[in-house]
Amino acid sequence: MKKTVAVIGSRGAIGNAVVDTLLADESVEAVFKFSRAENTEHDDKVKHIFIDIEDEESIKQATESLPEDTKFDLIFVATGILHDEKNVFPEKSIKDISFDKLIKVLTINTIGPTLVGKYFIPYLRKDSKSTFAFLSARVGSISDNKLGGWYSYRASKTALNQIIRNFSIEVARSNKNAIFIGLQPGTVKSFLSKPFEKNVKSENLFTPEFSAKKMLEVIEKLDSSDSGKVFAWDGEEINP
Ligand SMILES: NC(=O)c1ccc[n+]([C@@H]2O[C@H](COP(=O)([O-])OP(=O)(O)OC[C@H]3O[C@@H](n4cnc5c(N)ncnc54)[C@H](OP(=O)(O)O)[C@@H]3O)[C@@H](O)[C@H]2O)c1
Repeated sequence: MKKTVAVIGSRGAIGNAVVDTLLADESVEAVFKFSRAENTEHDDKVKHIFIDIEDEESIKQATESLPEDTKFDLIFVATGILHDEKNVFPEKSIKDISFDKLIKVLTINTIGPTLVGKYFIPYLRKDSKSTFAFLSARVGSISDNKLGGWYSYRASKTALNQIIRNFSIEVARSNKNAIFIGLQPGTVKSFLSKPFEKNVKSENLFTPEFSAKKMLEVIEKLDSSDSGKVFAWDGEEINP
């Protein structure tokens, strides 16, 4: 049976590359892409639905726009923030911490994906393997934190990993085929990584297309024993 997939955050560098890779995959029948873009591009294989993950009602409405009986083999959440054009930037030290920055980063990186889970979990296929993948980050690992800094971003991804674990435990009781994972995409060329790419050796700075392909390969190989864990683009498990 051909697959039906959803990508939330399809306008981002990685989200867009995941959409393109899935569109080129003959085993995929339908791609539902969700973003804040107002475009309503539709063809036989791809449908666009508006979503603002900072607005619970918008997430709910996005699922209500799905055709009746939609069941996803894969739901891929590719939204996120590290900095913006205004006041958000990764904190170098305690003095950089602010209420507004914490609220913004935790809202987009933790609360939004959690609410996406709430409204999209009922759409996961139950009769065969289905995967709910969230883009996380290695810096969300507490045991891996040797450098400090990046308070809001680190904490938002650590909390996201905990939510993923919780989803995996609760949903396993009603859907044994559902797998929940966090994914570390590598360092990928994008708006998000732009200010930091000069610190990365060119061979370690991936194109979105490469990262998307590698993460979809990781997803393909998962089984239920992997649910609740975080994996890097190359399949390495990242410890909490
Ligand atoms: N790039 C890396 O090196 C790297 C490394 C580790 C982890 N990650 C993770 O990978 C994910 C994607 O990053 P990226 O590199 O692809 O960054 P990106 O190109 O900046 O994409 C992020 C996307 O998130 C979307 N978004 C933000 N707030 C939203 C909201 N309220 N509602 C709907 N969409 C919203 C943005 O949508 P708009 O287009 O509407 O603004 C944007 O398209 C993030 O979670 C990031 O933490 C990236």
